[in-house]
Amino acid sequence: MANVGPASRGIGRIFLRKSVGQIQSEHEHGELKRTLGPLNLILLGIGCIIGTGIFVLTGRAAAQFAGPGIMISFVITGLLCAFVALCYAELASALPVSGSAYSYTYASMGEIVAWIMGLLLLLEYGLAGSTVAVGWSGYLTSLLQDLHIHIPPMLTAAPGVAVTDAAGHVIAHGIANLPAIFAIGAVTALLVVGISESALVNNIVVVIKLTVVIAFILIGSRYVHPANWSPLIPAQIPAPPPGTPMDMGHQIGRALWDVLTGASGSRYGVGGVIHAAAVIFFAYLGFEAVSTAGAESRNPARDMPIGILGALVICTVLYIATSAVLVGIVPYASLDNPAPIATAVNQIGLPWFGLFVKIGAIAGLSSVMLVLLYGQTRIFYTMSRDGLLPSSLATVHKQFKTPWINTLIVGAVAAGFSGFMSLDALSDLSNVGSLAAFAIVCITVIYLRVTHPDLVRPFRTPLFPIVPILGALMCLVLLMSLMAGAATRNFFLIYLAGGIVLYFVYGLRSSKLGRGETVTGHEAGPMELPHLED
Ligand code: ALA
Repeated sequence: MANVGPASRGIGRIFLRKSVGQIQSEHEHGELKRTLGPLNLILLGIGCIIGTGIFVLTGRAAAQFAGPGIMISFVITGLLCAFVALCYAELASALPVSGSAYSYTYASMGEIVAWIMGLLLLLEYGLAGSTVAVGWSGYLTSLLQDLHIHIPPMLTAAPGVAVTDAAGHVIAHGIANLPAIFAIGAVTALLVVGISESALVNNIVVVIKLTVVIAFILIGSRYVHPANWSPLIPAQIPAPPPGTPMDMGHQIGRALWDVLTGASGSRYGVGGVIHAAAVIFFAYLGFEAVSTAGAESRNPARDMPIGILGALVICTVLYIATSAVLVGIVPYASLDNPAPIATAVNQIGLPWFGLFVKIGAIAGLSSVMLVLLYGQTRIFYTMSRDGLLPSSLATVHKQFKTPWINTLIVGAVAAGFSGFMSLDALSDLSNVGSLAAFAIVCITVIYLRVTHPDLVRPFRTPLFPIVPILGALMCLVLLMSLMAGAATRNFFLIYLAGGIVLYFVYGLRSSKLGRGETVTGHEAGPMELPHLED
């Protein structure tokens, strides 16, 4: 039961923990059918992973930071995600509820850490939904142009963002990104009336996405000019003073120095490759969604690691190949636009293929948006059931049986961000929140091993404690690289500080655990897909 004792009075209350048994019993009311096998779990993961990251951010990160070195960035981030995924797999197998990092931290490190995790997940899911909507908008605009339907350019980008034509010339500056607002509005409406994804729909969308990506790799590879890959890592700008060529050792030292001193965000050079790794981290977000289907998995101990790592390995291979083909077809500098894969496809000059890729991207991005916003509403729902947020966020619509007030609030906020913030700002903030959340997940694994050595762990992270320590450290390095941007750093720190103040003003007093009340029926955990049994 809850760790309510003398420590529950005074400041000790902020470290109240739910017991593992309590988390599991809260879930019993919403017992879900255990229908998912390893293949379905892998497809579920791929469905959440492939989205704006590969379709949009890859090209932009190559153009702005890494050049052809973007391939190395994908290897770095893939490795980081593998470490984090192993940690998720351990927690998901030890706490096989329809869990989330929020539930894991509530059961281990206590309420204040769970609250902070809730704040971080809001960036991971809520802002990620807005980010994907901006990517969706880019592909829709490009598709409509092919069909000779032109949306006024200033209505396709956030205020002040330069809109370019196919040749890269600035043709307008944005006022608002209306297609992105529309996309979030449509997804919100679907979520309010309760149309969520079924395993069948998910599998169809995944097949479409995989077909698009694999076709791009196979067809595109015939149009690659190897000269575009050279130099693999363009020189850092500003370049080091003439006469001081830097070997690889110097470059790595310089990159770490940049990260540690906040001078990062550099264009090209090893520092640029590391910064690009932090940017395209977004492309991997979603692999942990597999862990949230714990309660629906037939054999979580065996299938969870297969699902999480399988999805991750497949996406990593596809991402490295896609980025290689992308920067091989067109010079990387021309990829700094809202639909870079479309740019490469246009260059190939096969109109049917261009339409195919754009329609596939739009379908794929729609489903990622749905899953991300769904996840966000369920995080609020769970926190509200715990008394940490107002109870109206857990109010379920009589007819639709969905948390409609919560969904409308999430939709309005996500729409606002997608319409008025640039893609780069959105993805950076979402990445910062997710990297911090992932670092805490790695630390949670270490914490639980030390404090609960006897907890039954059907899956154990190999090479403990090296894997969680490396995972947490790599998250911190990429986090610092992103925080070198003053706007991202200030927003994140003010957001976190404001959120923690809110905990002491509201959450601490209204927490059901703190007041000794029990919580029943977490029917829906974050990122849980309720209709997976078809
Ligand atoms: N990984 C997902 C995407 O790239 C969130 O859109």
